Amino acid sequence: MNINGSTKLLALLGNPVEHTLSPNIHNFLSKKLEKNLVYLPFRVEENNLGSAINGCHALGVLGLNITVPHKNHVMEYLVDIDDAAKAIGAVNTLVPVEGGYKGYNTDMLGLLRALKVNQISLKDEEVVILGAGGAAKAVVYMCAMEKAKVIYLANRTLQKAKDIAQDMNNHFKKDIVIPMELSNISELPNHSYLAFQTTSIGLPATKDQAVVEEASFYEKVHTAVDLIYNPAQTKFMRLAKEAGAKTMNGLRMLLYQGLIAYELWNQCKIEEELADEVYEELVSALEGKKK
Ligand code: ATR
Repeated sequence: MNINGSTKLLALLGNPVEHTLSPNIHNFLSKKLEKNLVYLPFRVEENNLGSAINGCHALGVLGLNITVPHKNHVMEYLVDIDDAAKAIGAVNTLVPVEGGYKGYNTDMLGLLRALKVNQISLKDEEVVILGAGGAAKAVVYMCAMEKAKVIYLANRTLQKAKDIAQDMNNHFKKDIVIPMELSNISELPNHSYLAFQTTSIGLPATKDQAVVEEASFYEKVHTAVDLIYNPAQTKFMRLAKEAGAKTMNGLRMLLYQGLIAYELWNQCKIEEELADEVYEELVSALEGKKK
């Protein structure tokens, strides 16, 4: 890397940021595409977020990623917000515009591109989403946009599923989202589902657990997508696979949310061949972290 007087900065703001893989994505891309850019993570406290963003704008930072816990309240510091990000209520990518930054949600766009690459279609699908947090809301929005037939939203805390269902059913002007309590998952009609796992159950701290353990659930699932990418195969995915389902983890979602952000910042298109190279870079970075 040759840092000189023309080098531009890309940055990630979050708290914590030490475990992020985003620098691997963006610095790899800049090296491959011979762009004079450097991507750095910054740990920012909530009460400093506004000044951090204004400071980035003053410094001419070319693009920003926003991660936990700032994805919602970052919106108050933006001059414009993309419609999908506004509806989801979360922004993870900032692009410089006149007077400040415009916010986008490339998490949702990244998941959609990952599904397409894996030939998983949403149109007319019956979908079940486990969890009703921020990530689940983006998945609900994506499924409704892509014309899924029905979306069952199952959560431990019923009220959170009800809130998202009400919000999204209002937004799309039809009763497409049906909230339910996770403990009632056996009442899911006996059809064949595309299932998304959006809770934190299955991460290293709970790697021997799945948010739903009942075998009868997995018999109703034809495709199982876990947003978790570490471990590469969660128990949710293993149970689904054993019941005959196609499975996918969250690593390609992570990849494409980064690629789409990079495309927005640089007004370029990243071809699938390069995307695969970045994917391999992510796999080895994850291996390195385990050592
Ligand atoms: P994110 O932004 O990643 O979606 P979040 O908003 O904190 O994170 O949401 C976490 C989700 O995981 C929620 O749906 C949460 O269920 P509750 O709404 O009932 O809290 C779910 N979750 C976390 N731990 C869980 C557990 N032990 N069992 C079931 N669901 C769990």
